[in-house]
Amino acid sequence: MDRTPVWFMRQAGRYLPEYRALREGRDILEMFRSPQTVVEATLQPLRRMPVDAAILFSDIMVPIMAAGIDVTIDPGVGPVVAEPFRSAADVDRLRSLEPDTDVPYVLEAIRLLRKELSVPLIGFAGAPFTLACYLVEGGPSPFFERTKGLMHREPQLWERLMAALGGIVRAYLRAQVDAGVQAIQVFDSWVGTLDPDDYALFVLPTMREIFDGLADAGVPLIHFGVGTGELLTLMRDAGATVVGVDWRVPLHEAWERVGFDVGVQGNLDPAVCLAPWEAVEPKALAVLRRAAGRPGHVFNLGHGVLPGTQVETLQRLVDLVHERTER
Ligand code: CP3
Repeated sequence: MDRTPVWFMRQAGRYLPEYRALREGRDILEMFRSPQTVVEATLQPLRRMPVDAAILFSDIMVPIMAAGIDVTIDPGVGPVVAEPFRSAADVDRLRSLEPDTDVPYVLEAIRLLRKELSVPLIGFAGAPFTLACYLVEGGPSPFFERTKGLMHREPQLWERLMAALGGIVRAYLRAQVDAGVQAIQVFDSWVGTLDPDDYALFVLPTMREIFDGLADAGVPLIHFGVGTGELLTLMRDAGATVVGVDWRVPLHEAWERVGFDVGVQGNLDPAVCLAPWEAVEPKALAVLRRAAGRPGHVFNLGHGVLPGTQVETLQRLVDLVHERTER
């Protein structure tokens, strides 16, 4: 049967009571390093609803920590970097990633998951710009002024930082493919803060290298960011096979911008899912109407599932997408 596939960013997480039980009293980074825990957290949402893909339970900062940087993930805050990057000496602290020895637990979890799963497993990495935001700011930030400051003030140092992060991301994603992931998503969550000129100059070349390097991997490559309406044509040029969009751009307009020769993923506002079903259903149907039954649409939220979401809402969404797109 052919129908539009659906999965949810952050489908593993705090909105699930069984996730909160698994998480209870533990450090999140220790959880990411335990293959058994990664397998369990990855599978939890699949026991609840027939989503069409699993996403590896991990975090974008895992390979950064593995490459020698002191990072914690503070509950309710996000990644915090003990010594934020401000100089060339800081960039030198990033060593290259040897996946077999630096992140063996990730690769082991992928191999274990492939034995359990009947749907494709999505591997992922953070994009260099979004990783740089955490490294330079030292934590979450509303305006990323330190990151942009470094970029404009010291373009050569920025280039070195992008090259180092790009190398880590490429090695990490290649190792995930070799271990068995069947699709890749690159999260450039915060890149929507840039104007198109700066994106083209300071980010696009590194993204192109990442996707070019994976072109022979034979798996779908999803390129996602938030607030990227004005960057979509440039993101298309980076070379992924699917572009993920948030809710700010109507799906058909986003698809026109990236071109109908690539897929699109999205784009229901995750905050809508906090409302009763009567409010969710028409918004979900509007996304489907805009996708117009074209092949290449992957239904998703425009960003991750919010912690207050009812499990039942996501279950009904999966059923709705499946029922309405059968062809
Ligand atoms: O989607 C999934 O189900 C897979 C798991 C996943 C996590 N992080 C687990 C996680 C994925 C794909 C990520 C990627 C990630 N991490 C991104 C890109 C996606 C996005 O949301 O834009 C970003 C920006 C991060 C950085 C990060 N890590 C943030 C902002 C937070 C949230 C802080 C909080 O507590 O609200 C984290 C922590 C984190 N990563 C959690 C999970 C399940 C929450 C940890 C907890 O249970 O306390």
